[in-house]
Amino acid sequence: MQYAYFGGKIVPFEQAKVSVMTHALNYGTGIFEGIRAYYNPATKQLNVLFLKEHFRRLLSNSKMMFMKIDETLEQLCDITVELLRKENYSEDVYIRPLLYKSTSKIGISLKGVEDAITIFAAPMGDYLDTTKGIRVTVSSWRRIEDNAGPARAKMTGTYVGPALAKTEAIMNGYDEALVLTEAGHVCEGSAENLFIVRDKVVYTPPVYENILEGVTRKAIIALLQDELKLTVVERPIDRTELYICDEIFLTGTGAQVSSVAEVDHRVVGNGSIGPITAQLSKLYFDAVRGNNPKYQAWLTRI
Ligand SMILES: Cc1ncc(COP(=O)(O)O)c(C=O)c1O
Repeated sequence: MQYAYFGGKIVPFEQAKVSVMTHALNYGTGIFEGIRAYYNPATKQLNVLFLKEHFRRLLSNSKMMFMKIDETLEQLCDITVELLRKENYSEDVYIRPLLYKSTSKIGISLKGVEDAITIFAAPMGDYLDTTKGIRVTVSSWRRIEDNAGPARAKMTGTYVGPALAKTEAIMNGYDEALVLTEAGHVCEGSAENLFIVRDKVVYTPPVYENILEGVTRKAIIALLQDELKLTVVERPIDRTELYICDEIFLTGTGAQVSSVAEVDHRVVGNGSIGPITAQLSKLYFDAVRGNNPKYQAWLTRI
């Protein structure tokens, strides 16, 4: 990682620095994105996945925080392409745009505070194991309610909850945490949306259950419906459904499609990657690696 977009231009990475008084650092007033770029060794091509969709979510969520920046959606996409061309990566990459309250001032009000955006990109392989099922646990930490802090935005401050949940899960010997809503319904993973399969019907929590409105979630629902011709139902999911369902998988930019083999010591299905998850995973990885012409529109060439 040699460069970052910072202060309105691409600069050497070491120059992308903020003051300790920065509003976002003190109060968690940043909104970030996570975007993947996939390198196809056969074609020697790096492609960014859902570039525009991620920046669109970032800009639309920024309204909640009274944020305003000079860069437009198109410019943010172009800057990311330019940054990646300069970095010249020939491996999979994770791109992190961070829009934040940049004023150095004590006081929490969001008004009269300046905003800035930085973008950087670092190499990244699998975030969770995608080759075999992972072991997860229901966390003792709950998902934040939308009225306590925006759950549908990737707000830096509200990631304290997922950070506590993930840490607890790892320290207790699991790969990932699943969090419940305050009402006790299954919400999502610490950094992934969740799907379960029961009798060949796929269920996922709806947007009013305090989930992050995942970019991958939307694409996965389309693949399940259009390619696998399955019914996808968005409805609240009970905790005990996790223990009796046929398949569970987690989706996200980082997680991609990750199968769950075990929840709280209960084996899911027969403990290996289930048939629907396996088919979906193949479809997803073919599309993101640029091996399915039908889904070229998901990708931006670098
Ligand atoms: C809490 C949370 N839920 C879900 C997701 C999946 O969202 P997306 O598919 O947009 O990456 C993420 C990852 O970014 C996340 O952090």
